[in-house]
Amino acid sequence: MSVNVLALCGSLRAASLNAMLLRACARLAQPGIGITIFDGMGRLPLFNPDLDEHPPEPVGELRTAVEGSRALLIASPEYAHGVSGTIKNALDWLVSFPPFVGLPVAVLNASPRARHAREALIETLATMSATVVTEACIAVPLLGAGLDEERILQTPRLADDLRRALSHLAAASGRTGVPPPQFPVR
Ligand SMILES: Cc1cc2nc3c(=O)[nH]c(=O)nc-3n(C[C@H](O)[C@H](O)[C@H](O)COP(=O)(O)O)c2cc1C
Repeated sequence: MSVNVLALCGSLRAASLNAMLLRACARLAQPGIGITIFDGMGRLPLFNPDLDEHPPEPVGELRTAVEGSRALLIASPEYAHGVSGTIKNALDWLVSFPPFVGLPVAVLNASPRARHAREALIETLATMSATVVTEACIAVPLLGAGLDEERILQTPRLADDLRRALSHLAAASGRTGVPPPQFPVR
């Protein structure tokens, strides 16, 4: 049985490195892992607790997608040493959403110098009672590397790192059908 993984991108930029990274993950995921990138991040209204119980349609779409997933994959930029408003806003809509609790989450970081946002994001996820899968949270140095999606797939070191992270994430979902990571751990 396939492990459904929902991918959330914290950047709305057309040429987003984080979006590119998630698209690459969707293409290189091993059989048994299916990655769906949520395409409604830019349509989510700003979080308002008054609307939490009867949320606007895009929030319903996000929650339905989360409910149908066994794990989350997040890639998001750092802005001014903080998490992007885009990803924080999406997560705020999920704070009181029971299916989010315990969900395994991997955080990918396309810019290893962006440590503040990574730490803040992981703190937020832990506070929301997600299961942050440490082994699946990796930095992939794309900023300034000049790689496109194809080159990510064709770079063994990057592709192996990403597959290994996805294996850890799928294994944490508890319904794997996916063998444990086969790659040598560096
Ligand atoms: C307004 C703004 C603020 C930024 N602040 C930081 C920062 O504090 N630390 C950092 O490492 N990068 C920072 N960056 C760089 C972005 O994280 C980087 O360009 C990243 O690739 C953006 O993600 P994206 O390519 O997915 O859109 C900033 C970029 C912008 C546009």
